[in-house]
Amino acid sequence: MSIPPGSTLGILGGGQLGRLTAVAARQLGYRVRVLDKKADCSASRVADDVISAPFDDVDAACWLAARSDVVTLEIETIGATAARAVAERAPLRPGPSLLAMVQDRAVQRAWLAEHGFPQGPWRAADGAPAIAAAATELGGACRVKAARGGYDGRGQARLPEPSQAAAVHAELGGAPAVVEQELDLQAELSVLVARSPSGEVAVFPVARNWHIDAILDVSHIPSGLPDALEARAAELARDIARACSLEGILAVEMFLVADDRLLVNEMAPRPHNTFHATSLACETSQFEQLVRAACDLPLGSTALVRPVALANLLGDLWDDGPPPFERALAMPGVHLFLYDKEPRPKRKVGHLLATGATPDEAIARVRAARAALERKG
Ligand SMILES: Nc1ncnc2c1ncn2[C@@H]1O[C@H](COP(=O)(O)OP(=O)(O)OP(=O)(O)O)[C@@H](O)[C@H]1O
Ligand SMILES: [Mg+2]
Repeated sequence: MSIPPGSTLGILGGGQLGRLTAVAARQLGYRVRVLDKKADCSASRVADDVISAPFDDVDAACWLAARSDVVTLEIETIGATAARAVAERAPLRPGPSLLAMVQDRAVQRAWLAEHGFPQGPWRAADGAPAIAAAATELGGACRVKAARGGYDGRGQARLPEPSQAAAVHAELGGAPAVVEQELDLQAELSVLVARSPSGEVAVFPVARNWHIDAILDVSHIPSGLPDALEARAAELARDIARACSLEGILAVEMFLVADDRLLVNEMAPRPHNTFHATSLACETSQFEQLVRAACDLPLGSTALVRPVALANLLGDLWDDGPPPFERALAMPGVHLFLYDKEPRPKRKVGHLLATGATPDEAIARVRAARAALERKG
């Protein structure tokens, strides 16, 4: 049964993804309540209410659920007990079992293996000797990733050879980890799939992603990759959404490796950095689609309207005060999104989108716009 406009949407997490979800919800006529660690979080400026508490605070989660008609999330690190408590009081979409599966990399990879979805060679490892043994078995250089809580390349380290396992283990703070074989990536892409509780499924156009130091730098839609490859990627995401009984939206990050094989890197059941472009590139943005899916409304069309590229803005750009935004905004097709977050090095505090007649034109424009922000004086 659908939860109609005028109802209240609760959002676990008040970062930029929560903020933009709240904007979409308000546009559709919903009230919005947010739970975040910080009362002045990014979403606080657009939410009706913010309750500030840690993500494992069961009482706070219950408070939110009791005052919401449906609850969704913008971050995976919600405590398992808190998530279950929410789900007992209001529909939580995505649900607690999907959340528990994705929030631990080892559990996520085991789930992918169990369901026969393709991924690179990996081992779960707890402790330096186990990391060294896993790396020896896998062979070659590896990526060691903390099983829980990493993002933007934090919580992961490169292991050139097994003998350096102790140093990498210490660098990750001694946390249980997943060791992955370092793959030779031909391309990085992601697919965003929406599924409503009624079972309607919609897949967005594939995004192609470019990382620097494991942080997303530029992303664009359409991907420019061959149609047949895009179709396989979309089918894979669709199959995963069905297998995990998704309610909401799910981003599936994929690697393209030798022989045109597609491997799943990781999954996130929430709005995703690589789909910001949908705000201008698609008939329906990822944020509106999440509201529709969570509220069991008809899903919106994901049809491509025009090519769009994204460039993230990191806090480093604010080194000598705010960058000269007017330079970027004077460029054709360029749009600025700021998150009201304190600028700190390596922290994402905003993004630029640029439209173009082709993906290449959109990419060139968004890069030029960001370069204009880097030039001071
Ligand atoms: N096994 C691997 N082989 C080669 N490159 C990798 C591997 N794992 C990760 N990377 C590179 O590091 C990036 C970040 O890795 P991953 O997505 O696992 O971490 P993350 O911290 O969750 O990142 P994000 O939060 O940006 O999604 C990947 O997009 C890819 O560029
Ligand atoms: Mg990733």
